[in-house]
Amino acid sequence: MEIKKIKRARGVLTVPGDKSISHRAVMLGSLADGVTEITGFLPGADCLSTIDCFRSMGVEIDERGDRVTVRGNGTRGLSKPEKTLYTGNSGTTTRLLCGILSAQPFDTEITGDASICKRPMGRVTKPLALMGANIENEYCPLYIHGSRLHGIDYKMPVASAQVKTAIILAGLYAEGETIVREIEKSRNHTELMLGAMGADISVDGLDITVKPADKLSAVNVVVPGDISSAAFFMVLGSIMPNSEITIKNVGTNPTRTGIIDVLKDMGADITVENERVSAGESAADITVRSSSLRAVTIGGDIIPRLIDELPIIAVAAVFAEGKTVIKDAQELKVKETNRIRAVVDEFKKCGADITETDDGMIINGDKPVHGADFKTYGDHRMAMSLTVLSQLADGVSTLDDETCARVSYPSFFDDFYSLG
Ligand code: S3P
Repeated sequence: MEIKKIKRARGVLTVPGDKSISHRAVMLGSLADGVTEITGFLPGADCLSTIDCFRSMGVEIDERGDRVTVRGNGTRGLSKPEKTLYTGNSGTTTRLLCGILSAQPFDTEITGDASICKRPMGRVTKPLALMGANIENEYCPLYIHGSRLHGIDYKMPVASAQVKTAIILAGLYAEGETIVREIEKSRNHTELMLGAMGADISVDGLDITVKPADKLSAVNVVVPGDISSAAFFMVLGSIMPNSEITIKNVGTNPTRTGIIDVLKDMGADITVENERVSAGESAADITVRSSSLRAVTIGGDIIPRLIDELPIIAVAAVFAEGKTVIKDAQELKVKETNRIRAVVDEFKKCGADITETDDGMIINGDKPVHGADFKTYGDHRMAMSLTVLSQLADGVSTLDDETCARVSYPSFFDDFYSLG
């Protein structure tokens, strides 16, 4: 596809619902007693995979775009699926399911697409095995033999909300209490939602303690817009001359707002207004106007707060004056594709001065860039980042596959072109 260029980026838009919260609302709603009404649900391919998996286990789920009704079966109410659960491209579905399925009174098999089959699952199967889980393989397909679990006290070797959540979900079924100790704070949507549903979960700094739960009470979930999707427009609005974009109702949970902090450090003109809170999740309207960006160094404990935004932050760095260093981001290598390699290889094609490092990349910004034939590696965030990059490149750019954007943002190109 040839990437069309917009002449200006001005307007007001809303982005689809938060992917992480949408997954959790379906999963926890399925395990709750009662009916969960979800509004603002993300009808992206990943979250639809989660719905399909829970339907296969006997949960009645009615999905009408961004409104979803889940009739929960209770914590003990899932039934054995007739066939292998297919999680598509979704790491969150795959890893969180491992936690739940380890404790069921039946065996299951999980697999996903080619990308999922290359992503490490040992990071969840190993701590789950310490709880008594019996999971064959460290890559999909996984064969999960339902087992009786017991609590553990586990110090996480990586900052990962998916690993943390898998252990917490297993902890709901385990005998005794489960303690997960994070090394850096990762997104805390699970802790907030489980707390709202009446689970016995407490958080003390980086340590989370969960006790077994016979019952979760359904709550209605209002999903805010996904800050990871809004990020593409925050960077676009910052780098395109004469821009002013307002993105309404964006989730601003502090475990996710590293992108705002970094763009502000780079000199971006961003305002956050009308902040409100629902069930512990905050949301606000974000306005961004054009500005001159300067380079920054990004590393340490901010990384989990912006891990999914690093490809689009790299785009900002290409147009920022000076040397941007992204470090401590080795987790990027195990995302939908190796996002360090993919960003470096693709950005080089358009003349960007970018170098791969062991744990990130170095970008010397503010050099002229030209159009190129880009590859997405089937990665939604690569497709959207490259679309923004190509706007300020001289000449024509193409994408080999734009359809992967539907994993997290089905209406991305419509929203994007609505601004120009
Ligand atoms: C997610 C956690 C993050 C993130 C992913 C969604 C979640 O992954 O990159 O897009 O919903 O828990 P890790 O847990 O691997 O860091």
